[in-house]
Amino acid sequence: MNTLAGKHIVLGLSGGIAAFKSAELCRALVKAGVTVQVVMTEAAEQFMTAVTMQALSGRPVYTSQWDTREANNMAHINLSREADAIVVAPASADFMAKLLHGRADELLSLVCLARPIEQVPLIVAPAMNREMWANPATQRNVAQLKADGIHVLDVGQGDQACGETGDGRMLEAEEILEDLVAFFAPKTMASQHVLVTAGPTYEAIDPVRGITNLSSGKMGFAIARAARMAGAQVTLVAGPVHLPTPRGVQRMDVRSARQMLDAVQSQVDKASVLVATAAVADWRPDTQADQKIKKDGSGQTPSLKFVENPDILATVAQSARAQSGALFCVGFAAESHDLLAHATAKRLRKGVPLLVGNIGPATFGQDDNALLLVDDAGARELPHASKQALAEQLIADIARRLK
Ligand code: CTP
Repeated sequence: MNTLAGKHIVLGLSGGIAAFKSAELCRALVKAGVTVQVVMTEAAEQFMTAVTMQALSGRPVYTSQWDTREANNMAHINLSREADAIVVAPASADFMAKLLHGRADELLSLVCLARPIEQVPLIVAPAMNREMWANPATQRNVAQLKADGIHVLDVGQGDQACGETGDGRMLEAEEILEDLVAFFAPKTMASQHVLVTAGPTYEAIDPVRGITNLSSGKMGFAIARAARMAGAQVTLVAGPVHLPTPRGVQRMDVRSARQMLDAVQSQVDKASVLVATAAVADWRPDTQADQKIKKDGSGQTPSLKFVENPDILATVAQSARAQSGALFCVGFAAESHDLLAHATAKRLRKGVPLLVGNIGPATFGQDDNALLLVDDAGARELPHASKQALAEQLIADIARRLK
């Protein structure tokens, strides 16, 4: 999803060492198709030069309210009227205090104060030392800025330039970018809580071996990200995969099918939608050896017996909340052939209103896919596209069904 393409953003820098991240943010915004107009305070210029920001944004930087380049000499009015949003990153403690009081003694605070608040959202990314962040004055200011309708992004946690460790770092450029993409996305899933299962499960044979499958988890992670972008609260129950957690998504890592069932059951009462993309192992060894099973030299192979795993989706789909319509369940079907026939039969067997079919061997581990949406009215194809694009289409489809 690129909700930023074609937008015009005023990127304001106030004084803080995190200004170096704003250079990267500026570049990323330009790459996403944004025209970026940089405005810097005098303090910001102590940390980053206007020359750098001009080169990265491809536009002259504004630093003074007395800039004579503006014919009407009203840079603060002109800049704020052209913008789709104003993003202040870094927003220092002092700059936020200024915003709070409506002070406007230099260009950036003037632009913020002069913006038409209904049309031009103001988003700030705080950056400061942990004590400054924790100070009641700052926390009071943050709460009041939010109450005034200003979007205050989270702060990061970790090592700080001052040598201390704690809350208050500015988010990384890619995190701010992700929050901005989400900011502009249509909120079709606002007030929904989406629970997603993703990835394979791993069923242990002994401490060093197990059975699993080739699911990468990419489709489920893309769905979790798309749901969060659409304004949902999202919980992602993930089997063993090597994927970063989508921003703003709560993740629970599990290994076996039974752990996945426990995690789902601990969350499902809060959920209004379940999307089960996980490739859950159908069977597990009936016993798990405490120690590694060794060869005994006889050439005999160990005989493994399997028992069936619980069916997570079918279990949830039979619950009272799902049956009453309070929980909308979406299943996936990974098939190798006869997709329509298998997906249609599987939808009925699982007792879900919507089942999404895909060809497992063709998609496992890939970044793209094609989906077949099967419901009681028939089937609809979502043609071949990236998993992220398909996830967005699926979430939009689910949102329409929830209405
Ligand atoms: N599923 C589940 N728990 C299981 C097995 C499957 O929750 N123990 C869910 C999957 O997450 C998916 C759907 O059920 O949403 C179908 O999974 P799939 O593996 O395609 O089907 P199976 O039920 O395993 O049927 P089969 O192996 O016969 O194709």
